[in-house]
Amino acid sequence: MPHIIVSKKQLSDDVFTAEVQAPLIAAARKPGQFVIISLNNEYAERIPLTIADADPDKGTIRLIWQRVGKTTAEMADLKEGDEIVNIAGPLGRPTHIEKFGSVVCVGGGIGNAPLLPIARALKQAGNNVATILGARNKQLLILEDEFARISGELIITTDDGSHGRKALVTEPLKELCRRESKPAQAFVIGPAIMMKFCCDVTKQFDVPTQVSLNTIMVDGTGMCGGCRIEYDNKPKFVCVDGPEFDGHKVNFDLMMKRLNAYKELEQNAHEQYKKHRCKIGLDQ
Ligand code: FAD
Ligand code: FES
Ligand code: MG
Repeated sequence: MPHIIVSKKQLSDDVFTAEVQAPLIAAARKPGQFVIISLNNEYAERIPLTIADADPDKGTIRLIWQRVGKTTAEMADLKEGDEIVNIAGPLGRPTHIEKFGSVVCVGGGIGNAPLLPIARALKQAGNNVATILGARNKQLLILEDEFARISGELIITTDDGSHGRKALVTEPLKELCRRESKPAQAFVIGPAIMMKFCCDVTKQFDVPTQVSLNTIMVDGTGMCGGCRIEYDNKPKFVCVDGPEFDGHKVNFDLMMKRLNAYKELEQNAHEQYKKHRCKIGLDQ
């Protein structure tokens, strides 16, 4: 079944969203789950992306991605009507949703995309949702309006103060945890370093914290070992045991080291793609 891009939009300088035909996945997916896509042929790189939303009636899923390297740049160059050759999913365990009472959702950068379906499901389950969204600057902040619609309290922070408070997300998180009615549960999704520091805060205040981990993935079925982490001093595979974990038990330092393992190869591949792209049309 072809996975045609039904609509595509640019959300900020480097963030894009598309609705893609995938009826079986749209019908089965639950908040917290992801897909692994390969863009053009069986040798193309496989990358995981969260299912940000789905419309089972239209048979489409919504993906939101940040252009960070070769494959996400290639995907940003696709147009409406183009096809994504392979989409495998839904993968991973769905988020455990229940009525906790008051919850805080913390998103950093592109982490806002996977956080949105979770925050929405928490709201639908009757929780009082406070949200903290952080970005380096105003241009990089995505999905503010969508979060505003479902959050009882929405706090925006930017590193440069161009929007909301000039602070890191840990600052308002600490303030919320200090309140008499502190959150019963925290959900944190963003860069590994941000999740690590948010977990340091919530641990001090005994607030249970779910994180969604963005390790390198290849097969997404528990066989390649690419997504291995250390959790509670034991090995776990993010693709089948996660992607969500109790953040207080994750060894983030090891995870960050493993995330950087292929940096040089990734940068070379991106440079090659940019050169190739610049030449398109020159020989016509
Ligand atoms: P590269 O230059 O190849 O890599 C840039 C960085 O991305 C690397 O340093 C590494 O940290 C990471 N990365 C590279 N290859 C992989 C890979 N095969 N698997 C995972 N990470 C990789 N990003 C989004 O923009 N939107 C999402 O909704 C989203 N959801 C994700 C859900 C899960 C479960 C995981 C594990 C990751 C998710 N990511 C998401 C991250 C996304 O997969 C990477 O940004 C993407 O693979 C980068 O590919 P690239 O070739 O463009 O960049
Ligand atoms: Fe291969 Fe998880 S991606 S084991
Ligand atoms: Mg890549």
